[in-house]
Amino acid sequence: MAKLKVGVLISGRGSNLAALIEAAGAADYPAEITCVVSNKADAPGLGIAAAAGIPTTLVSHRDHPDRESFDRAVSTELERHGVGLVVLAGFMRIFSPWFPARWADRLINIHPSLLPAFKGMHVQRQALDAGVRVSGCTAHLVTPDLDSGPIIAQAAVPVLAGDTEESLSARILRQEHRLYPLVVRWFAEGRVNISGGKVMVQGIACDATLLFSPQP
Ligand code: GAR
Repeated sequence: MAKLKVGVLISGRGSNLAALIEAAGAADYPAEITCVVSNKADAPGLGIAAAAGIPTTLVSHRDHPDRESFDRAVSTELERHGVGLVVLAGFMRIFSPWFPARWADRLINIHPSLLPAFKGMHVQRQALDAGVRVSGCTAHLVTPDLDSGPIIAQAAVPVLAGDTEESLSARILRQEHRLYPLVVRWFAEGRVNISGGKVMVQGIACDATLLFSPQP
């Protein structure tokens, strides 16, 4: 069967991109990454993609007069590579309403909190300030409202006494690297159904191993 063509959008480090590339390296993984688009020229993730032989493109918002024209340029690039699923992996640019409409139900993001708690920036700081005992990451569909689209899957981690933003981020990131390739697999296998603003993943039992990292 033909693999699902995935376009990954990044702005920085690219560790989620690296996790997706690793997963897609397995012969039986049902998705392939056909392009990586960055809005930042110095994003280290661009080097990760290039090293894996994946075509990369820089689309700088500086070259576009407004959000929608930037979004359309990104979209053109994705279309050029036949993308069927757009995966945001640390993409730190807010879209105009046009982009989520163009890619409705085929645009996903991963966010380092258990949404709807702690939207926006400095998410781990927000979690520590709130004193929560459990945090994690959320894979969700992207809608025009920031960090508010229908939730696909979540993975939790404990928040430990003495945690810093760095230690909590690292613990959550390990779960992101497990969760995101799994979610992309579900899309490629046609298991994701969206109805009435809710996501149903067919044939998947709740995987308790995602609830906590083996090693905090
Ligand atoms: C990840 O922790 C991701 O969840 C977060 O940015 C980081 C990117 O790391 N995304 C957001 O906060 C989006 N709201 P990476 O570049 O190493 O994948």
